Amino acid sequence: MASSDKAGPVTIYFFSGTGNARNVAHWFSGIAQQRNIPNTTTDIARVDRKNIQPPPPGSLVGFISPTHGFNYPPAMLYFIFRFPRSKGNRAFLMNTRAGMKLSKLFVPGLSGIALWLSAIVLLLKGYRIVGLRSIDLPSNWISVHPGVKQKVVESIYQHCKGITEGFAGKILSGKKVYTAFRDIIQDILISPISIGYFFVGRFIFAKSFYATDACDKCDLCINNCPVKAILAVDNRPFWSYRCESCMRCMNDCPKRAIETAHGYIIGIMILINMGIIVWFWQAVGKFVNIPTDNGWVKLIITITGWLLTFAVMVVSYRIYHYLLRIPVIRQLFYYTSLTRFRFWRRYRPSKRMIRELP
Ligand SMILES: Cc1cc2nc3c(=O)[nH]c(=O)nc-3n(C[C@H](O)[C@H](O)[C@H](O)COP(=O)(O)O)c2cc1C
Ligand code: SF4
Ligand code: SF4
Repeated sequence: MASSDKAGPVTIYFFSGTGNARNVAHWFSGIAQQRNIPNTTTDIARVDRKNIQPPPPGSLVGFISPTHGFNYPPAMLYFIFRFPRSKGNRAFLMNTRAGMKLSKLFVPGLSGIALWLSAIVLLLKGYRIVGLRSIDLPSNWISVHPGVKQKVVESIYQHCKGITEGFAGKILSGKKVYTAFRDIIQDILISPISIGYFFVGRFIFAKSFYATDACDKCDLCINNCPVKAILAVDNRPFWSYRCESCMRCMNDCPKRAIETAHGYIIGIMILINMGIIVWFWQAVGKFVNIPTDNGWVKLIITITGWLLTFAVMVVSYRIYHYLLRIPVIRQLFYYTSLTRFRFWRRYRPSKRMIRELP
């Protein structure tokens, strides 16, 4: 850590699905307020991302977002890519990750390229990066694991609030804090997965949601989605490809009517990987000889597999949504969905540690 100039006005931008990143943003701004430093905290879901106002000269700009698939989610990435250039303004980046607690041990999540890619983009835009920090708040990814118990959530929140405020104090005192460098080796090692998630994985997860018969068509999920990804099709919620799998809709549905269709996803993956892709390459092989030991051919086969997966997901989700009209099909998907079990729970951020802005 090295000391440099003091903080001017602070402008924080955050994206948040279920509240973790929003709380980190508010904790940071709380420290700025304690020190009488002018500050603003903005949810990027509420700004016109095509017309972003440049930060005032001499200010400190913060970007805070969850980690999705070892990267920032596309909403935050696009925001940073479009962010106005600067002549020497300072910037800090934070990502909230999937923290867990095993007995008394706090286990961190994994960042991948989340901070590095955005830091490089901001450097190229003329910002001086003064802070890089991950905060290991509880995992909200309930499509892949049961929701964290509330007692554990409170404990992780308590732990992370202090860490965030300590980081904020140092950055606002003009210090540079690059805690993220501790994870750089593991981040580089897992970085290829972030590319796979960006181009394929996220679209599969976006198509894993459906609304059960418990849905009373209140439209809360449609209105509250931060990227307006849910449409009303055939008089029930339909998840479009804009979905970032932020988990807000699933966790906030008052009727607990949104489930992850594990049966459908596993079935369609088996169909794609053991049926459609094999069939496709057998058909191509009838016309040309494919040298499968060639590196370029392997890459083409991989990319073609991704494109086929994407195409089949587009078509099959529409068919699947249509079939949900039929009660017996709805029951089939419901009974093959793990999220329906009571023990799976939903994710709730801490009730005690939330700091709302005045
Ligand atoms: C689709 C998805 C992907 C995720 N990928 C990662 C990841 O790669 N690494 C990680 O540590 N946490 C991952 N998480 C966990 C979240 O980043 C973490 O729970 C975060 O604190 C949620 O913040 P939010 O409440 O502001 O949305 C993922 C969560 C979701 C929903
Ligand atoms: S929030 Fe739940 S109950 Fe309301 S429309 Fe969405 S799925 Fe249905
Ligand atoms: S549809 Fe649901 S999970 Fe997807 S971005 Fe919107 S609120 Fe998040």
